[in-house]
Amino acid sequence: MTTGAVDRIFTRLAERGSGSYGLSEVSQLEHALQSAMLAEAQGGNDALIMAALLHDIGHLVSDADEALADKGIDDRHEVAGARTLGLVFGPEVADPVRLHVAAKRYLCTVEPDYFDLLSADSVRSLELQGGAMAPAEQAAFEAEPGHRAAILLRRIDDAAKVPGMETPVLQDYRDMAERLAAQRQA
Ligand SMILES: [Fe+2]
Repeated sequence: MTTGAVDRIFTRLAERGSGSYGLSEVSQLEHALQSAMLAEAQGGNDALIMAALLHDIGHLVSDADEALADKGIDDRHEVAGARTLGLVFGPEVADPVRLHVAAKRYLCTVEPDYFDLLSADSVRSLELQGGAMAPAEQAAFEAEPGHRAAILLRRIDDAAKVPGMETPVLQDYRDMAERLAAQRQA
C-alpha cells in the first residue's frame, strides 16, 4: 500500500463527507476534522489523530445506504473502516477504529453517567450494536491492546459534533497520513 491508498481514502472523505453525520448538524467531513483536532489538542500521537480523522471512513467506503440505522440495521462500519485502515496504516490506527463502537458499549456499562451524554442517534444505534456489555465481554474488551486508545477515540467522537467549529482542513493531515503509511511499509 502506498500513496495511492492514502489518496483513495482522502478522496473518499472529501467527496462523500458532505453528507450529514447521523442526526447531528455537522457533516461527516466536519465531524472527522473536529475529531482529529480534538485528538491533537488532547496530546494524542499521530496514530490517534489519524484514527480520529478516519474513524468513520467505514460509513463511506461502501456504497451501501448510509442511513441503515434508520431502518434498524447495524452497518458494522467500524469493521469495514478498520479493515481498510489496517492495510494502509497498521494496527495502531486500525485497532481503536475497530473498537470505537465496543468502547461506547463498554463505557455505557462501566460509567453510569456516560449514557446520559450520548446523542440521540448514538442511543438509537447502541441497541443495534448490542447494548450494554456482559462481564465476559468487558473482560475481552479490556484485553484488547487498543482498548485505551479506543476509549479516548470514543470520547473524542462524542464531542466532535459542534456546528460551526473552526478546524484545520483535510489537506493539513495529508503529510501525517503519508508518514504513517510509509512507516507501515518500512
Ligand atoms: Fe464518529
